Amino acid sequence: MAVIDVIKARAKATKKHVLLPEGSEQRTLKASETIVREGLANVTLLGNEQTIRENAKNLGVNLSGVNIIDPEVHPNLQDYSQQFYEMRKAKGLELEAAQKQMKNPLFFACMHIKNGFADGMVAGAINTTGNTLRPGLQIIKTAKNANTVSGCFIIEVPNCEYGENGVFLFADCAITPDPTDEQLAAIAISSAQTAKSLLGIDAKIAMLSFSTKGSAKHDNVDKVVSATKMVKELAPEIMVDGELQADAALVEAVGQLKSPGSPVAGKANVLVFPDLQSGNIGYKLVQRLAKAEAIGPICQGFAKPINDLSRGCSVEDIVSVVAITAVQAQ
Ligand code: ACO
Repeated sequence: MAVIDVIKARAKATKKHVLLPEGSEQRTLKASETIVREGLANVTLLGNEQTIRENAKNLGVNLSGVNIIDPEVHPNLQDYSQQFYEMRKAKGLELEAAQKQMKNPLFFACMHIKNGFADGMVAGAINTTGNTLRPGLQIIKTAKNANTVSGCFIIEVPNCEYGENGVFLFADCAITPDPTDEQLAAIAISSAQTAKSLLGIDAKIAMLSFSTKGSAKHDNVDKVVSATKMVKELAPEIMVDGELQADAALVEAVGQLKSPGSPVAGKANVLVFPDLQSGNIGYKLVQRLAKAEAIGPICQGFAKPINDLSRGCSVEDIVSVVAITAVQAQ
């Protein structure tokens, strides 16, 4: 069974409530019908109710079972604006600006989740990554045991003997451009949690570099070495090794030659990249050259799940990301 089908089956088993702030957008409307029909999650569309209903009618989308919230006329609008103002006034936010921002469905959705009325949010079909994630970073914030939000991909490589029968988690491929050693450690720890929650596997994390165990000297290598040490201290139960080159991470013979006795070298199923450039380039190379399925980006490290779609996403992509979000919320 493909990884996404397993995730969908798990989403159905314990239904969660996911908000879709781009409620009048065509692909989002079509996806909401499928999500409800397949029982993947309870769904609420945000936006102007009349526009949502008109657009659905024009598309032939059946909205029965789909909830609609219009932030502009919602009874919690004033309360949420006040809460947002209190959270951000030290950063210079004025009450009037908070009231205006809270009418934005992305901000309203995050505050609705923070107040316990929903479990997660999926957006980004028409908003940039920054606009989609900023309300989450400001309102939902990071989980207690994470200081950084990052973006991972589940990578399924066909006919591949490495990783977990060709299945891997790659991070961070989407969010933090130049993580510090502390952030890199947090990305690794979040990745172990994601591997467990979405894939049901115990992570074997390779902290990647252009050096293996001191074969090269550079500040960039020191960062990976320091992050690896932090992961071991903060989460001793996680299997992690670094710094490792990609071949030492994946190939048993190379890994055991360069890092003898390592529980990870040559067996890694989670690859943590040293920065966003290498992570983003790395996953796209594997996706294209190895014809791998790349599921994501999946945000990790938020206190409640929020996920960002690509603006080129399909209806099926939205359905899948909602299922992932629902499982993350379980
Ligand atoms: N984790 C936790 N908190 C964060 C993070 C993070 N990774 N990044 C920013 N924050 C916090 C900041 O500390 C700040 O908090 P505060 O306002 O309470 O002090 C708040 O979030 C807003 O921070 P900004 O620096 O203003 O963040 P901004 O909104 O400008 O950008 C973003 C955040 C969108 C994640 C930015 O780092 C970004 O654009 N990253 C790259 C995204 C991208 O283009 N990815 C590649 C494409 S995706 C793909 O190919 C799959």
